[in-house]
Amino acid sequence: MIHKGLDNVYIKESKICFIDGEASKLFYRGYAIDELASYSTFEETAYLLIYGWLPTASQLKQFKDHLESSRPLEPGVLNLIRKFPTGSDPMDVLRTAVSALGVYDLQAMTDDISLRIEKGLRILAKVPTIIAAFDRLRNGNEPIPPAGHLAHAAEFLYMLTGKEPDAHDTHVMDVALILHAEHEMNASTFSCTVTASTLADMYSIITSGIGTLRGPLHGGANEAALKTVLEVGDPSRAESYVANALAHKERIMGFGHRVYKTWDPRYVILKKFAEELAVKKDQKLLFDTAVAIETSARKHLEGTPIFPNVDSYSGIVFHMLGIQTDLFTPIFAMSRIAGWLAHAIEYLQFNRLIRPKALYVGTTGLSYKPIGSRSGKLEE
Ligand SMILES: CC(C)(COP(=O)(O)OP(=O)(O)OC[C@H]1O[C@@H](n2cnc3c(N)ncnc32)[C@H](O)[C@@H]1OP(=O)(O)O)[C@@H](O)C(=O)NCCC(=O)NCCS
Repeated sequence: MIHKGLDNVYIKESKICFIDGEASKLFYRGYAIDELASYSTFEETAYLLIYGWLPTASQLKQFKDHLESSRPLEPGVLNLIRKFPTGSDPMDVLRTAVSALGVYDLQAMTDDISLRIEKGLRILAKVPTIIAAFDRLRNGNEPIPPAGHLAHAAEFLYMLTGKEPDAHDTHVMDVALILHAEHEMNASTFSCTVTASTLADMYSIITSGIGTLRGPLHGGANEAALKTVLEVGDPSRAESYVANALAHKERIMGFGHRVYKTWDPRYVILKKFAEELAVKKDQKLLFDTAVAIETSARKHLEGTPIFPNVDSYSGIVFHMLGIQTDLFTPIFAMSRIAGWLAHAIEYLQFNRLIRPKALYVGTTGLSYKPIGSRSGKLEE
């Protein structure tokens, strides 16, 4: 039996993430996502995902200190980023730079789980620095080294802009990172798990995940959702846009999900932030247009399990924070590394090389032909 897309195939038991797509629930290690969004920070959540429990004050301090000391880039990696064409896609830059981090770690290969985690945290710490450095260089600015005293989300915004973000922007970014940190066995997490199963190093594992997230069927839907809202431009045009799109069998970006058959719980949280930012950043028209599209889409899709997902407002939130559109997927990676790391480590505890099968439906027994007598097309 072939399981196209591996639909409904379980590859391991896991204690990391549970999604109840019928009840609009998402849990990381047993904690509901709305509780984590309300009370946790990205650092605490990353710790929870990777180690399995919420850290004590001293565990959290050690974790944050480790991230802080790992944030600066090796000069070799920064020089490499300087050489990339300014028109490069930031996901290509990120994939290559993370791979390069492995070149500078001469002990990249290790079987020791705690050393593996340490290397994973090194990557987690450096990814915001990589993204921000490239963004500044392509805009003709010098990269800004990490401030050192800021939290993960604030450090990223600081390295991007050179200004320490206010508490509200920091909180929004922090929660956005929490919401994207983990989502069970999605394509990029599976990709990381496959690479981990070969006992490859952490840099190869995370590079696989970034490569998989690069595709438009995985990362990228929030960019498309934002583009739609910007193009529609005004709430008065939302109804005709939605009616026309659905009449032409087009998809409304930021709607629908393979697992959620009701509201994506992350959407609820991000919509609230988008509303707050709309007032704060004078972006009410953008927010009202998004809401009008959502309202029309829900009206037309009534009776179907197609509801807004995380991407319906995440791009809008990042846009209102002043972040360029092509950084949305790198930010997704920056956060999801926590989940990738957690799953790779969990899988390695009971490792079995992942090696599925392909059902052969081709020909056998062809006789080898000299170059002059080949047809140049497929032989049946
Ligand atoms: C995410 C997604 C791929 C999940 O799809 P899925 O559960 O595999 O569902 P399918 O692609 O099989 O679609 C099932 C039906 O719902 C419709 N549908 C799914 N998402 C839709 C959307 N966003 N807008 C309009 N119709 C949609 C499909 O056209 C299909 O209709 P049909 O049966 O009449 O052909 C899909 O909802 C989608 O493309 N959404 C838009 C992109 C997006 O927001 N992605 C981010 C996901 S987090």
